[in-house]
Amino acid sequence: MSEPEGAATDRKPMQNFRTDELIGLLSSRVVGQAHALEHIVPSIQLHRSGLAPEGRPVGVFLLLGPTGTGKTRTVEALAEVLHGDARNVVKIDCGEFQSEHEVAKLIGAPPGYVGHAQTEPRLNQLVLDEMTSDECDLTLVLFDEIEKAAPSLAQLLLGVLDKATLRLGDGAEVNFEKSLIFLTSNLGARDMLSELQPTLGFDTEPRRPGADLSAHLERVGLRAVQRHFSPEFVNRIDAVITYRPLGNESLVAILEQHVVELQRHVQNRLGSRSFDIEVAPAARFFMLEKGTSMEYGARELKRIIHVHLTQPLAAMVANGEVTPGAQVTVDLHEDGDHLTLLAAGGTPLPTTPPSTVLAIDDNEAVLGWLNRVLGDEGHRVLLGSTVEDARRHLEKEVPDILVFDQILPDGDGVELAVNILKEHPDTRAVVMSGTGLDEEDVLLCQRYDIPFLKKPFVAEELLSALEAISLSGGSSRSAAG
Ligand SMILES: Nc1ncnc2c1ncn2[C@@H]1O[C@H](COP(=O)(O)OP(=O)(O)O)[C@@H](O)[C@H]1O
Ligand SMILES: [Mg+2]
Repeated sequence: MSEPEGAATDRKPMQNFRTDELIGLLSSRVVGQAHALEHIVPSIQLHRSGLAPEGRPVGVFLLLGPTGTGKTRTVEALAEVLHGDARNVVKIDCGEFQSEHEVAKLIGAPPGYVGHAQTEPRLNQLVLDEMTSDECDLTLVLFDEIEKAAPSLAQLLLGVLDKATLRLGDGAEVNFEKSLIFLTSNLGARDMLSELQPTLGFDTEPRRPGADLSAHLERVGLRAVQRHFSPEFVNRIDAVITYRPLGNESLVAILEQHVVELQRHVQNRLGSRSFDIEVAPAARFFMLEKGTSMEYGARELKRIIHVHLTQPLAAMVANGEVTPGAQVTVDLHEDGDHLTLLAAGGTPLPTTPPSTVLAIDDNEAVLGWLNRVLGDEGHRVLLGSTVEDARRHLEKEVPDILVFDQILPDGDGVELAVNILKEHPDTRAVVMSGTGLDEEDVLLCQRYDIPFLKKPFVAEELLSALEAISLSGGSSRSAAG
């Protein structure tokens, strides 16, 4: 389990999902808003069936309700399930389009139009098509916080919602027939909150959103929408869905999701050097108290977890205070104001036998750090910043391990590593990159068994990669050195 795995383990071609399976997958990601998913999923199935009417988007949904209740998260969850990546969404933050001038940028200026230096439209067919995937040809389009946009955006949207086309400044047309369009808005959210908490006292329990109250909140939201948008606009929306304030049970479940996510991240990044995280009830309660509220829902929870748990944990790892296989117990400190993290157990793994490592990176800070980390592990470290440097070292001796940056001032680190490995089959290599590898490099790295580390990474990740290659490594080591 030392190779990072894709986050989504429950993927299969989307055409194989039944409606209830899709709802299940989504509701494990969006907690407590089943009614919203029940509105949305049928239009995905409609698209899959090939029976969606032509000449309009597959579905148009307006998501209403208080902040931090999962509106934006819903669209990200759909992207995860349909495309395998939460980022596969064409997202328009309407707050960026508050003036007519900014809205014009969305579609680009007509050719030769004076006064617009920037004529590239933000929305075009390519942008839409790029957000599909091999598994699913449906584009998710999100106009987030639509009430913030200038009125001309709603005007532009009318054509999109109605005929599934958007005409750009240069006359080209964008087709939205294979799109699910989501508009999110806080319209009516204030009124909803005061309905829920008439006294606005923070320790009053919110009224339970029973059927009556939900219907009532929906009316409050719809009224606000009708005040803000024209009837023709509202008529073109397939469903107005009101998100409910999250109850305690949902908030507890969301915290648990974040903890599981953190554990998975640790497992993926550290591989055999991973450890277990155990969060005590008092610590959970503390994070829920700090990270959730009527006003902001679960929006702050991620930040609170980051500050109180992820960061201190990362510091412990970076300082070498957590041994592989340890259990880190997270509890509330006596002062009630922060968390304590205690690492116990764990067994130091057999480390990579001391080797000669050639590290090449043109970033001096990185090079210095590599020198220290590798030196501390007992390796002999040769340093350089260019392909040229690497060649010079190689003329004198053949290192056991290569640690190369992908982009070097005078060449390509992957190519260089592969060339050396071809000549010296007992040498092993690791590649680092700040940007990620392109497809060709990924294939090369697979073929030559070169682990790839995305910058920034912690020492444990590098050591774990070295361990992995030395375990799977060549039968005999180079005699040179
Ligand atoms: N129903 C929910 N299920 C899971 N996580 C949620 C939910 N609601 C909010 N969150 C958490 O809060 C963050 C903000 O939620 P978001 O969907 O952006 O809120 P909004 O309703 O304001 O669009 C999410 O990234 C997620 O971590
Ligand atoms: Mg949002």
